[in-house]
Amino acid sequence: MQKRLLTLLALALLLASPVMESATAASPPIKTLAKARGILFGSAVEIRELYRDAAYAKFVRGEFSVVTPEYEFKMKAIAPARGKLDFKDADRLVTFALKNRLLIRGHTLVWHNPDALPEWMKERKFTREELRGILKNHIQRTIKHFRKTGRGSVFCWDVANEIFDSDGRFRTDSVWAGITTNPVEFLTLVFRWAHEADPKIKLFYNEYDIESPGKKFEAVYKTLQALRKARVPIHGIGFQMHHGPDRLNLPATRAIMKKFAALGLTIHITEYDFALRDSERLPDAFERQASAYSELATLCTSIKACKAFTTWGFTDRDSWIPETKPGLGRATFLDGNLAPKPAYYSLKRAFSAGFKSQSK
Ligand code: G3I
Repeated sequence: MQKRLLTLLALALLLASPVMESATAASPPIKTLAKARGILFGSAVEIRELYRDAAYAKFVRGEFSVVTPEYEFKMKAIAPARGKLDFKDADRLVTFALKNRLLIRGHTLVWHNPDALPEWMKERKFTREELRGILKNHIQRTIKHFRKTGRGSVFCWDVANEIFDSDGRFRTDSVWAGITTNPVEFLTLVFRWAHEADPKIKLFYNEYDIESPGKKFEAVYKTLQALRKARVPIHGIGFQMHHGPDRLNLPATRAIMKKFAALGLTIHITEYDFALRDSERLPDAFERQASAYSELATLCTSIKACKAFTTWGFTDRDSWIPETKPGLGRATFLDGNLAPKPAYYSLKRAFSAGFKSQSK
């Protein structure tokens, strides 16, 4: 223990010094600093970029211990026709991950978003029984596939993503509401199906806007509390954490994370980015962003149950924000040329400085 603390202290002193900022290449990669605190660090990646752009792939290999497929593990990409599964694109990430000893967060088996559903799912209304069959089949065949090809890499799944609306009700705009709109009943079904397919894989519920008090947080908390009480196989909660330009309510988020941790759930930060207004000028905008990245990373190091800090993209070149949220952008920690922004350095300092306290 003494040796480990001394190592960490040396790392912290080394990285805290101003000279470090200029010698980033010489300092340990973020994955090493995060791992020293028991935290997996990584990002969502575009599989085609891993094979197209050598600098993109090199950064992923060098700085990340975990990756999330931004699209290719979703139903739209995997199930082009009813009863037909195509894992060709998805398995390219598994190949890259196994070769580079990267873990993969499976994302995501159940999502209502039409952009993630295959066209055949939208062509007609399905009965409750048909939907149950379609969903059970999709969950189990997909998990079983990666249990074989992704052994040693795919270690967890976002089984269900964003099933609640902002009022904390089951989304009525979801095709899966045709099965039930009772969230406990629905999640019990899908998590049990997932666990049957691979009893070893860690199963997460993934959501956004649950990091501050409100109806959505209350609904998700009460639902997961009921699932844990009923011994449903749910192991963790993913906080997406799409932030900016407003800042996090840090004390509230800490309290909320501790409540979920007290249920025995592992916490993953799954999709962090901090969007800036296009009108915000440099260098202030990037300094503000660096401070936001640092405070969330430090929060994760201070909560024992927080085991992963992953961003949603890592270069401003590929971020989903500009095309989805006009007027916002520059949300990641590398610029469009994959050069580190202040947020890259602030992440390093946060993971090297934040000695994990023993709080839950
Ligand atoms: O790759 C195909 C291409 O072959 C095809 O020609 C083209 C036209 O259909 O589509 C391409 O796929 C696009 C895919 O991104 C890959 O770029 C899809 O159309 C597009 O809908 C998809 O958008 C993704 C979206 O989820 C829906 O799956 C975004 O990249 C991704 O950032 C976004 O991520 C979500 C998380 O999963 C859940 N949390 C919110 C987050 C942001 O919306």
